[in-house]
Amino acid sequence: MYYFQTTVFVLILLGYAKSQCPNGFTQMLTNPKKCYTVTSSVTHDNAQQACIDVGAQLMTIENAFENNEFIMLLLNSDIITQNQKERVRIVTASLQSVWIGYQYNISTNKYSWADLSNTSTYAKVDTCCATRNSQGPLLYIGWNSYWYNCDVSCGTNCSLIGDYDALKLGALCEYRISTSPGTKGGDTGSSNQINVNQFKCLRASGYEFFIGQIWQAGEQGIPGTYDQEGINNIINARTAGLKDIDAYIFPCGAPTTCLSAADQVKYAVGNLTKAGGVVDRIWVDVETPGTVWDFQQPKRNQQFISDLVSNITSFKNIKNGAGIYTNADHWSKIVGDWTGQSSLPLFWTNASHRKPDFSGFTPFGGWKMPTIRQYEIDKQHPQKICNVIYDLDWKQ
Ligand SMILES: *[C@@H]1O[C@H](CO)[C@@H](O)[C@H](O)[C@H]1NC(C)=O
Ligand SMILES: *[C@@H]1O[C@H](CO)[C@@H](O)[C@H](O)[C@H]1NC(C)=O
Ligand SMILES: *[C@@H]1O[C@H](CO)[C@@H](O)[C@H](O)[C@H]1NC(C)=O
Ligand SMILES: *[C@@H]1O[C@H](CO)[C@@H](O)[C@H](O)[C@H]1NC(C)=O
Ligand SMILES: *[C@@H]1O[C@H](CO)[C@@H](O)[C@H](O)[C@H]1NC(C)=O
Ligand SMILES: *[C@@H]1O[C@H](CO)[C@@H](O)[C@H](O)[C@H]1NC(C)=O
Repeated sequence: MYYFQTTVFVLILLGYAKSQCPNGFTQMLTNPKKCYTVTSSVTHDNAQQACIDVGAQLMTIENAFENNEFIMLLLNSDIITQNQKERVRIVTASLQSVWIGYQYNISTNKYSWADLSNTSTYAKVDTCCATRNSQGPLLYIGWNSYWYNCDVSCGTNCSLIGDYDALKLGALCEYRISTSPGTKGGDTGSSNQINVNQFKCLRASGYEFFIGQIWQAGEQGIPGTYDQEGINNIINARTAGLKDIDAYIFPCGAPTTCLSAADQVKYAVGNLTKAGGVVDRIWVDVETPGTVWDFQQPKRNQQFISDLVSNITSFKNIKNGAGIYTNADHWSKIVGDWTGQSSLPLFWTNASHRKPDFSGFTPFGGWKMPTIRQYEIDKQHPQKICNVIYDLDWKQ
């Protein structure tokens, strides 16, 4: 009985894991959470785009086991064309190569991986070539057991043969099967446009939900206006196949300069709907920058937030109704110790430790736990994920 159960369990696990790689991708032997594919030949400038086009991004190699898996694959495979092989043979006796997601930034003089991780010890950097290839993100090609950023092993001889920038190789792309508890996602307003390919890449990198701004006030201009770019992001996210999409309203709540709560919600939802945008929930962004609230009138602010919430709830096509985006500091400055919205979900912003979890949450406003945490704000990124800068969010 024991053996029988074990066998069934293993078979189910294998079947489950296998089916999670997208079509055309292969599950990694050394890391079953990752699937890879190699695109047809591209130059280093468009290698990342080639991966985005297939719903993935350039490969981050996390350890020596992964490294060896790819080296073996490259040495034994036929993933580059005969023509390229000939081309590559000219530069190093027998080389088969792909671009990977390791890149050099000349302004910081640092290398980093496409997935933002810090596991750079498995790329051997050839500094003589790094200097030459100083423009923008750089990628590496495999050579023996190492990865280099040029088409020759420079060693003591820095003269390169041929035109590096025109060298065409396969792009080694990765898709990650989400295994961590909870779900990662992101949010942004009009400052960051995200196209369909970028959303596909984000999804391939494990960022499964999106929250887009549909109304902006405060620093963006009083009395506020709908956010066309934010609405476009919401539509692009849907087109890219994301299923979990919300919106947020950054309201204007000051007494004389702002539109009524009813109008702000009506116009925000009106413009979203007119553009064909569909969202599950609308979050009310309660925060302090700009001159959007009168801090001397907490009672008035409470009423304004209640009006925004009840107007959002009155739109039956917003199926999950309203939620509140804030933190203890913003909330207390604007509404004091009010607990009047604690029955709504809380989208908690605290990016101090930059990890996807709810640790460090101290109850406020009547909330005992958040529903979503904004754990990294866009300005903190050491580099862009999928050429996108947005705030990183997490939920259980
Ligand atoms: C990555 O490494 C740098 C330098 O060692 C460190 O300052 C930074 O905090 C690390 N980032 C993460 C996310 O671990
Ligand atoms: C290089 O780093 C700088 C400073 O962090 C950043 O502003 C810039 O966007 C980076 N360049 C690329 C191509 O990632
Ligand atoms: C360096 O490379 C160039 C170009 O292939 C070659 O002509 C030269 O002999 C090499 N020098 C050394 C010291 O290997
Ligand atoms: C919408 O907000 C207005 C204030 O602007 C308020 O008077 C009205 O009751 C709200 N409507 C609903 C349906 O809650
Ligand atoms: C879109 O928003 C603007 C205010 O920014 C408003 O004047 C206009 O009526 C809205 N359109 C719709 C269809 O709701
Ligand atoms: C933010 O989170 C950190 C760690 O998760 C925690 O130590 C800190 O108290 C939090 N700040 C606030 C204002 O809740």
